[in-house]
Amino acid sequence: MAAILASSLPPGLALSRLPTPLLALPELGDALGVELWVKRDDLTGLGLSGNKVRKLDFLLAEAQAQGADTVVTCGGIQSNHCRATAVAARQLGLDVALLLRGHPEGPPDGNLLLDTILGAELHWTDAAGYARRDAAMAGIADALRTRGRRPYVIPEGGSNATGALGLHRGAQELVEQATAAGLRFDSVVCAVGSGGTVAGLAAGGLLREALGATVQGIAVCDDRPTFRARIDAIGVELQDRHGLGIPADAYEILEGHQGRGYALSTGDELRRQVAFARRTGLFLDPVYTGKAWGAVQALAPTGALGRRVLFWHTGGLFGLFGRGAELVAALEQAPQ
Ligand SMILES: Cc1ncc(COP(=O)(O)O)c(C=O)c1O
Repeated sequence: MAAILASSLPPGLALSRLPTPLLALPELGDALGVELWVKRDDLTGLGLSGNKVRKLDFLLAEAQAQGADTVVTCGGIQSNHCRATAVAARQLGLDVALLLRGHPEGPPDGNLLLDTILGAELHWTDAAGYARRDAAMAGIADALRTRGRRPYVIPEGGSNATGALGLHRGAQELVEQATAAGLRFDSVVCAVGSGGTVAGLAAGGLLREALGATVQGIAVCDDRPTFRARIDAIGVELQDRHGLGIPADAYEILEGHQGRGYALSTGDELRRQVAFARRTGLFLDPVYTGKAWGAVQALAPTGALGRRVLFWHTGGLFGLFGRGAELVAALEQAPQ
């Protein structure tokens, strides 16, 4: 518990509905030869749902403290982070500008539909432009300033030390729930897209120290060295600002579960997500949680995740919408 006591966090907002439930999935666990639990961060809210809301609790507290009136951030065309930021900004009476990678085709759906309804200012870019996203967002912020606005820029995925505090608070929440239930975990498994979630969960080595758990991040894009470098850089910032470093052995990044790549699905992945929904009544998304679940299914029976496994459900439901044709085709290929 030392890590909890040592970390005096700045006060965050209460955008997330907390605590999220910790539930057992006994049937599914038995089928994989482990004791399986799920942390329902898909229930941090409705429009404002998923792991990103925990980050926004701290990021938007900082934005408000700085007197910002407009939030600027970036992501893919179906970014959950951009949608959650747009919802939160509107709830707080702020404007929002989004740098989105991709090209709008046809009417908006999924997260983009919600961004559109919320009236986010949309800036489109291609892969090459997105590689220079920090400079592009700085340009958008400069243009806002010339219009007399006060922008606050959030990096991709809300993944910096401030955002990671939200997941550290999530780790504290899990420790309280698990301790009350007399549980320890061998692994806490979640999807990794920009690194902030794993960084926050691993911060201070809290889950390792209090529950014996290693955070196992499943890369949905990029590779292990890229993510380790990003997470360790957030750890340095966390250490400097909050005395909460990330011990090297508190987390691991597992590759090989990206499938066809970021936001691309195989028929097998989609069928696995359907099977999961039919066994549990819970929805996975094709970009993040579906791939992380694929890793749990592959690794749990080998013993690589240990005996008691927690699947941290990070949300992403809106990413399913707009994928109907693909899903139906996958089911026609191999009916469930
Ligand atoms: C649903 C969902 N799960 C997991 C992640 C990964 O979190 P992080 O970007 O903090 O690695 C994201 C965002 O990237 C997400 O939207």
